[in-house]
Amino acid sequence: MLKTAARSSGRTASDIRSVRDDFPILQRQVRGKPLVYLDNAATSQKPSQVIETLSRYYRSQNANIHRGVYYLSERATADYEAARVRAQRFLNAAQPEEVVFVRGATEAINLVVGSYGRSVLRSGDEVLISAMEHHSNIVPWQILCEAVGARLRVAPIDRAGTLPVDEFERALSPRTKIVAVVHVSNSLGTINPVKQLVSLAKESGAVVLVDGAQAAPHMQVDVQQLGCDFYTVSGHKMYAPTGIGLLYGRGELLEAMPPYQGGGEMIRSVAFEKTTYAPPPAKFEAGTPHIAGALGLGAAIEYIEQIGWGFIHEREASLLEHALERLATVPGLRFVGSARERASVVSFVMDGIHAHDIGTIVDQEGVAIRTGHHCTQPVMDFFRVPATARASFAFYNTLDEVDVLVRALQEAREVFG
Ligand code: ALA
Repeated sequence: MLKTAARSSGRTASDIRSVRDDFPILQRQVRGKPLVYLDNAATSQKPSQVIETLSRYYRSQNANIHRGVYYLSERATADYEAARVRAQRFLNAAQPEEVVFVRGATEAINLVVGSYGRSVLRSGDEVLISAMEHHSNIVPWQILCEAVGARLRVAPIDRAGTLPVDEFERALSPRTKIVAVVHVSNSLGTINPVKQLVSLAKESGAVVLVDGAQAAPHMQVDVQQLGCDFYTVSGHKMYAPTGIGLLYGRGELLEAMPPYQGGGEMIRSVAFEKTTYAPPPAKFEAGTPHIAGALGLGAAIEYIEQIGWGFIHEREASLLEHALERLATVPGLRFVGSARERASVVSFVMDGIHAHDIGTIVDQEGVAIRTGHHCTQPVMDFFRVPATARASFAFYNTLDEVDVLVRALQEAREVFG
């Protein structure tokens, strides 16, 4: 359980210490220095509450689900379904059946592309995405459009790294059957006005997928309020294990969609002449799922709820503000992306130092940041940079850790001139 201090209002410095104590990895050293983990957009660290859930499951609860009449199997099934209900409430989906466990946001998008997309998209139709999508929300649509002769359209971004709503609206047409747009950009941190985008897309008759991989760890998501048809979540970016994620799908769409993969547990009856399928979500969960992962995701959601969105927002806003202020003092450092509405993600380049060298230099000080194109090559092309360095913060980071990064960058500046 979390320490009481971390749950109460009017938190103090000791609260963040007790929160950090929940994350065992934050106590370790790398290269003889305390770990400064600032790569939370790539994957977040895991609290003991999640680690212990996995350990407890494998030590004393392991059994397959939906298949056994014995105690352990019934218990594992109940826990797995309870995690689904927790996820349903977390996203404010209307029904637990609207939540499908998947491997992660990438699989969630591929499921929608392969099932919904493949069954509705015809030659001449259009799919609209934005210019700041992660490759996982570009490539599957490209493959599908190519296969059926549809057109992939791209709503442009501006120099601030935001998505102008009027341009997005202009890119919609009666041919637009599907809109797929990211909630929070992984490489720029931009928070898109998804409620407005969804509403415009729906008015124009499109079905809308929102990629929430980078949003769900940072803000309360309400799929009913957003009005989207599909919403994707990556567990490992929100303190849960890798290999587990969520697809929210509107009930009537999931009902009508064909299966994504065939196998055990997704059927009602199988005969060589004809197979009929189970109702959702089972229809989309062929084979033995990542049971421990689902329990771990449930524990991560419980953890986030105990920490509270107020605490998370307050911490992450102050980390972002401090980082923007302090990084601006490093000579020759230029930010890539300057949206006013943004999550705690800062991308930057430095004159005369390649992003990969920045990453290697700060690693010597124990600082972990991501460098590269962040699986958003079109964003790099737009800003005419081969790569950026990216620091991404979670509520357990501290202002002192930001200062360690800034000092390491200042030293790099001195070395590279
Ligand atoms: N998509 C993840 C990132 O942004 C891996 O780093």
